Amino acid sequence: MWTLIICLALLPVLTTSLDNGVMRVPPMGWLAWERFRCETDCVRNPHTCISERLFMEMADRLVKDGWSHAGYKYVNIDDCWTEKKRNATTGRLVPDLKRFPNGIKPLADYIHSLGLKLGIYADLGNFTCGGYPGTTLDQIQLDAQTFAEWGVDMVKLDGCYSTPEERAIGYPKMSKALNKTGRVIAYSCSWPAYDGGLPPKVNYTLLGEICNLWRNYGDIQDSWDSVLNIVNWWGKYQDILIPAAGPGHWNDPDMLIVGDFSLSEGESRAQLAMWAILAAPLFMSNDLRRIGRTARALLQHPGPININQDPLGIQGRLFFSTASLDVWKRQLKGGRYAIAVLNKGTGGTPKKVELSLSSLNITTAQFYVITDVYEDKPLGLYKPNASFHFSVNPSDVLLLLVEPLSCKCKCKFVLKETCNVMEIRYGNALLEDVA
Ligand code: GLA
Repeated sequence: MWTLIICLALLPVLTTSLDNGVMRVPPMGWLAWERFRCETDCVRNPHTCISERLFMEMADRLVKDGWSHAGYKYVNIDDCWTEKKRNATTGRLVPDLKRFPNGIKPLADYIHSLGLKLGIYADLGNFTCGGYPGTTLDQIQLDAQTFAEWGVDMVKLDGCYSTPEERAIGYPKMSKALNKTGRVIAYSCSWPAYDGGLPPKVNYTLLGEICNLWRNYGDIQDSWDSVLNIVNWWGKYQDILIPAAGPGHWNDPDMLIVGDFSLSEGESRAQLAMWAILAAPLFMSNDLRRIGRTARALLQHPGPININQDPLGIQGRLFFSTASLDVWKRQLKGGRYAIAVLNKGTGGTPKKVELSLSSLNITTAQFYVITDVYEDKPLGLYKPNASFHFSVNPSDVLLLLVEPLSCKCKCKFVLKETCNVMEIRYGNALLEDVA
């Protein structure tokens, strides 16, 4: 009885003002911006313009091609979806009449009928970054209400044309307004990106209380340089960023560009691996109607997705780095770890690497099974002090899963001699590599 009373008394302290219960693991889905930008000419570009057709087709692909099954549930509209003016009488945002002739509500209904969720874009300020009507402080309540009435599940609030003072008022105000609608609406804040991403200008404690995710840094572009630039920033400021992330509130390094024009296979593996290590939202921005098989198989690979979606929600850390090699480590549930060895170098030959688990501070269990995540191949069974060797190609990654071997583990390994680690099988193959 007393326990119950104490727990109830603590409840208001433990719940935050956002308190919408969503995104306990990083959200996954598709977002229009990086790939489709602000193309509004549907006469010349009917397949690629920002229109209800684009979002319906992406939603169809998400369901038909296995994406939704793999976890990608959000279909997110970005900038350039409205008319150039609000409704003169109601003051509401109006979807472009030609490109969204049915309005947003039927689009939301369609997306929900497929078991997916709809995200939308607004901008705190007079205009969006693309020059469409923004959401000024006095319009926040109305826009939140409108989005809720349309059945929207997520709002990204951008920050072009706002002052630091307006952001300090507007971002918390939108959080409250969304909550007040009574509809569960996830909230993505671009606030930190507009204030340099770092304290003292950015208050990550407050962000964690009012937003489900936030853009910390500049926009991703379709290039490996852009991916590396983001990864390097995340490494440099990790002591600030890591404590900010957790279930329900995530740092957002921006969209996945895998499947677009620029990344090689290795670079694509590397972006996905790093977004998994960083517990990043996985919003792809690509053309799901034209994506190649390799990119599709990669993005749907359960290995990196499971790492990304780990329920502990602890963001990974750059454990050490040399001139061109990063070793990142993320703690996962059940005493497991994900390790990403990222070769950022441009020297045209694979880098030979020797590591031991104890050098990564992984020492608790007697033995660990190490698996190459992308190959889904066990590399062997290792004592913490044992060295293991491998090589990583330039602009590529090796993503490893490190699992303690225990009698209770529900892994694919069949243990003979119970806990004596005499013989371990993976499928039918005997694992001999007990280092
Ligand atoms: C900003 C954002 C991008 C995108 C564009 C739209 O640059 O950071 O993610 O929303 O605006 O104009």
